[in-house]
Amino acid sequence: MTLPQRVKLVEVGPRDGLQNEKAIVPTAIKIELIERLAAAGLSAIEATSFVSPQWVPQMADHAEVLRAVLASPRSRPEVSYPVLTPNLKGFDAALEAGALEVAIFASASESFSRKNINCSITESLKRFAAVSDAASALEIKVRGYVSCVVACPYEGAVDPAKSAWVAQRLLEMGCYEISLGDTIGAGTPASIQRLIEACVAVVPIEKLAGHYHDTYGMAIANIYASLELGMAVFDSSIAGLGGCPYAVGASGNVASEDVVYLLQGLGIECGVDMESLLAAGQFISRHLGREPASRAARALLARRGAE
Ligand code: HMG
Ligand code: MG
Repeated sequence: MTLPQRVKLVEVGPRDGLQNEKAIVPTAIKIELIERLAAAGLSAIEATSFVSPQWVPQMADHAEVLRAVLASPRSRPEVSYPVLTPNLKGFDAALEAGALEVAIFASASESFSRKNINCSITESLKRFAAVSDAASALEIKVRGYVSCVVACPYEGAVDPAKSAWVAQRLLEMGCYEISLGDTIGAGTPASIQRLIEACVAVVPIEKLAGHYHDTYGMAIANIYASLELGMAVFDSSIAGLGGCPYAVGASGNVASEDVVYLLQGLGIECGVDMESLLAAGQFISRHLGREPASRAARALLARRGAE
């Protein structure tokens, strides 16, 4: 079995992480966090989401965050800053703020689709097709998500064939990459490999990414299981921040520091500097008044303190 030699990390902390924070994080802190993540070597950082501020108040400063990040002298031109756009209204607002990449987010579970974006899967795919048509006319890149690929907080287990079906629809719409969201972190290496096997029948592995929440502590094992099948793009969240406001009990994504530690141990390149990443994690954790959820970060920082 050969593992990929290089992996791309998509940092989702500023969006998936912060969207779940009850207390509003100041815009300047969000911008500083994104700048630090870019400086640490991450080449894709999901900056914010152009969703309804009534639904997710934490993301209400989306335009200000994106504008500032794109204009920042500290931002590197090779870094992409995708933003979530649930519909054309969000897409237009993202465009106005300068977005060069957007992400559309469908679900493999009907109930989650309704709770999260207030419409059925079929209706959501129509909305997303409108967004991706508008994007492709303007050469804006589109990334796709499928949520609840293994299980749904409302319906329980999800058939891998259903997740693959939604992934295929997103591919047909022109998404350059489809991120498989284990929204409630219920997957295990076996169920994740079954999922990937179903998906690769319709979407090439190069176009698939793993987006694993760490609710049950399985995310690192799930990444390893995905690497075994040739997957080479993973979403992660600095300091393990986050969750989804419409998936009760879902904890944060796998921590970026944990993934970088895993990849370094396997000799897999990811272009991220651990020291700068740790500092970015400490920066946001200090602001939130808690320790980083990353086990690797806590261990590395404790070792440093003891030296
Ligand atoms: P809706 O209420 O059905 O929308 O919400 P509507 O079209 O009926 O419009 C109602 C009002 O919202 C109108 O305003 C619209 O203008 C406004 P009014 O006329 O009443 O003043 N509106 C908007 N405002 C700002 N931005 C917009 C927008 N669209 C309509 N884009 C909607 C539908 C999709 C907007 C809503 O359900 C929503 O914003 N949901 C947010 C969901 C969300 O952000 N969830 C978390 C991210 S997904 C996730 O975390 C999973 C992921 O990480 C993968 C995984 O882990 O599985 C990606
Ligand atoms: Mg997520």
